Amino acid sequence: MKIRILGSAAGGGFPQWNCNCTTCAGQRSGTLHAEARTQSSIAVSANGVDWALINASPDIRAQLLAAPEMQPNRALRDTGIKAVVLMDAQIDHVTGLLMLRESKQRLPVYCSARVKADLTSGFPIFNILEHYCGVDWQEIKPDGGAFTIAGIDGIEFTGVPLTSKAPPYSPHRANPAPGDNLGLLMYDRASGKRAFYAPGLGIIEPQVETAATQSDLILVDGTCWRDDEMAQRGVGSKLASEMGHLCQSGEDGMLQWLARFPNRRRILIHINNTNPILVEDSAERAAVIERGIEVARDGMILEL
Ligand code: MLT
Ligand code: MN
Ligand code: ZN
Repeated sequence: MKIRILGSAAGGGFPQWNCNCTTCAGQRSGTLHAEARTQSSIAVSANGVDWALINASPDIRAQLLAAPEMQPNRALRDTGIKAVVLMDAQIDHVTGLLMLRESKQRLPVYCSARVKADLTSGFPIFNILEHYCGVDWQEIKPDGGAFTIAGIDGIEFTGVPLTSKAPPYSPHRANPAPGDNLGLLMYDRASGKRAFYAPGLGIIEPQVETAATQSDLILVDGTCWRDDEMAQRGVGSKLASEMGHLCQSGEDGMLQWLARFPNRRRILIHINNTNPILVEDSAERAAVIERGIEVARDGMILEL
């Protein structure tokens, strides 16, 4: 199984267009050692030719330009993308669907019924796409059952339901239910290896514990270092936990949890532009690396 990190930043990207927080301004001026990053998305393939796009970021055009292996050029109009899989209905994970409107086939999109409901109401991307390529919706049931994707031979996928809220524009934002947010377990039949991907992970529940225990690669939420980071940086008042993200630092933080899986490859992804781990010579980055944990970069290739 080959995984390509298309975008490793959280919503807004890094640096964010209107942000002059320490990290954004430092990146822009070159006074901090920090790489720019696009918004949250990965691609997975068993054969290196046919890819499942996991989340479709608003930055998808630049991400695909940087990933020539995803354009096999077998016909006048062609793509390596066989299907799109959505973890939730958030702007940073679904807006890229609009950029795929020139698809020659109805676009196969795998997501939960809850996400489909949001994408046909509060953020009606599926309805809009009906005027272009159309969507071939395939349901991911949030019951933990494995599914396969037509054209992606050799990989079994399992949606892992995560407790978190639907986006602000969702008609069911006030009534969270299984399927609003998923993690994804990917099992490569040939290598026998598993990867667990969860860019939005707020609470470590038993099903998350099980998924991580089974996995050789744990690719999880690296949004904020501190729960009150937005306030600390003066850019907002919401806690990371209120946005469905478990911060890295502290007694019950992500680093403490990941320490329970010392023999796995562990990578933080979906990193917010305020997060000091973006700065390569920061104390926070050192604390991550010291624990054997990695920080995702755009263009990173993971093979397992
Ligand atoms: C999130 O994961 O909380 C989102 O990235 C927020 C956003 O896109 O505005
Ligand atoms: Mn996000
Ligand atoms: Zn910023």
